[in-house]
Amino acid sequence: MRAVQIGVGSETFGRTWRKGLIQIDGVEIVGLVDPNPSYLKEAREFFGLPEESCASWASKEFYDRVQADFIIDSTPHAFHYKNAIEAMRFGLNVIVVKPMSDSFATADTMVNEATRLGKKLVVAQQIRFMESVLQLRKLIGDGMIGDIAYIQADSYFTKQGPVRDKWYQPHPLLLECAIHQFDLIRWISGLEPESVIADAWNMPWNEEVWGKKSAIALFHMSNGSRALFRGLSTDQPGESYPGHWEIEGTKGVLSLVKGNILLNSERIWPAEEQSEAELDILTLNAEVLKDALAYFAGSETPVLTGADNLKSLKMAFACIESSDKGSKIHL
Ligand SMILES: NC(=O)c1ccc[n+]([C@@H]2O[C@H](COP(=O)([O-])OP(=O)(O)OC[C@H]3O[C@@H](n4cnc5c(N)ncnc54)[C@H](O)[C@@H]3O)[C@@H](O)[C@H]2O)c1
Repeated sequence: MRAVQIGVGSETFGRTWRKGLIQIDGVEIVGLVDPNPSYLKEAREFFGLPEESCASWASKEFYDRVQADFIIDSTPHAFHYKNAIEAMRFGLNVIVVKPMSDSFATADTMVNEATRLGKKLVVAQQIRFMESVLQLRKLIGDGMIGDIAYIQADSYFTKQGPVRDKWYQPHPLLLECAIHQFDLIRWISGLEPESVIADAWNMPWNEEVWGKKSAIALFHMSNGSRALFRGLSTDQPGESYPGHWEIEGTKGVLSLVKGNILLNSERIWPAEEQSEAELDILTLNAEVLKDALAYFAGSETPVLTGADNLKSLKMAFACIESSDKGSKIHL
């Protein structure tokens, strides 16, 4: 299938797609879009494309020229809505990096437009494909710990916190980072959130200028269990993704610590103890591509769809609303 990448990046996330894009059979990059000429040149040379395959902005003329089947949008999330709506209306399917959009209303419209136009919308929530995450999900699905009563997911960032100095967003932690754990809470447990109380704030060492960089959220889940998320900008050691997990069920406790899965404090996976979780985004993005290509080709069991991701994104926006209002929000 023929693809256009929008937001090719240089030091940033757009570039991490390239390895996956040249590795996966069945994907041919036929167009590149980016307003930054030097980033565009770097990507054009990487893919060996002629200048007419590149543009500063996407347009109908551009899509007519390159004849692509889908876009991969790795621009900042404020642009995802426009890029997706345009591409779908010009007949293309869409893969968009997380978070799907910078407001719930625009993400909701993206999902509805995909349905209305008969197009496929994929949100590249690649942490779902981490081996430890897949193992944990399987063990829970197989009933190893019985019915889930309690989930705790902790995500640790450096003391500086998740800072974006290129664009401002009021909630970098909740919208850009915690979206991974929110999506994993649903993916690993198979449960859906019903309500949340959340608080986003800054530690004394973080400035407000780049938004709120720590947050705690308590979700009531569909089976009556509770899920507690903590995203901290801290000196405490620990990983951001997938982070440290404790899941207690009626028959035992499963933990995910530094890439190791423990049952009642005894390591059960993998065979050799790991010293830290291995986060290989390039390979995980290749898994996203495989899932998306199968979906575009007609698979009825894709892992990553816009409609499903909307439920994870709703968790992030409900947390923001709860924190801003100081009250419980029903999802
Ligand atoms: N694990 C993940 O899935 C993951 C990791 C990192 C970042 N991201 C997401 O990737 C997105 C981009 O983050 P980044 O740090 O790479 O951003 P960035 O600011 O580096 O921008 C990415 C690229 O988009 C281009 N761009 C900016 N505006 C554009 C527009 N209107 N049209 C086309 N191209 C445009 C920039 O020139 C750049 O090449 C964010 O939404 C972020 O949350 C996802």
